[in-house]
Amino acid sequence: MPWRPMIPEDLGQVQVLADAIHVGHPEDPEVLAERQSLYPQGCFMLVEDTRAIGYALTHPWRFAEPPRLNRLLGAIPSPAATYYIHDVALLPEARGKGYAAQITSLLVAHARKAGFDNLSLVAVNKSQIFWEKAGFRVIAVPGLDAKLASYGPDAALMVRDVASL
Ligand SMILES: CC(C)(COP(=O)(O)OP(=O)(O)OC[C@H]1O[C@@H](n2cnc3c(N)ncnc32)[C@H](O)[C@@H]1OP(=O)(O)O)[C@@H](O)C(=O)NCCC(=O)NCCS
Repeated sequence: MPWRPMIPEDLGQVQVLADAIHVGHPEDPEVLAERQSLYPQGCFMLVEDTRAIGYALTHPWRFAEPPRLNRLLGAIPSPAATYYIHDVALLPEARGKGYAAQITSLLVAHARKAGFDNLSLVAVNKSQIFWEKAGFRVIAVPGLDAKLASYGPDAALMVRDVASL
């Protein structure tokens, strides 16, 4: 399995990957580091031949209230009604090999074990079809449009039951 837990020493690499993959939607180092420090068990690195080629940042959160992009979370809410996938990002050469599907299965299993009944995310960069294949569906939440716009024009809130598929 080329995915392994992310450690604080990986954060420099995560920033390089994030800046290269999410051009136009940069996130500050403090924002990425906070995710890893608040919920390290939800953060993973994709490594091939010792080279970092992708990452995943995820954590429990409030349902249908996706955090604004590039904002600190402050704390993990308790109770938290959804397992939130902040980002799964692979370099172009790492795509199409099933790595993203692999980490998605791992995240679903983690959410189930942690007692969540759903996972959610904001799909960006035309990734909606990938997430649909992984069992997510778009949901409309009144009043969310302005917040979603901070993620880009095609951003959509998506949800999946842990039990589906
Ligand atoms: C979205 C992303 C993680 C998908 O990674 P990937 O390596 O292409 O995914 P996989 O190889 O695991 O693909 C799983 C399935 O989804 C399909 N798929 C992936 N991206 C797709 C797309 N944009 N359109 C249609 N199908 C897609 C694959 O064909 C595959 O289908 P199959 O199981 O029928 O063969 C990757 O494209 C990426 O990192 N994009 C940039 C960052 C990003 O936008 N992340 C999402 C943030 S919400």
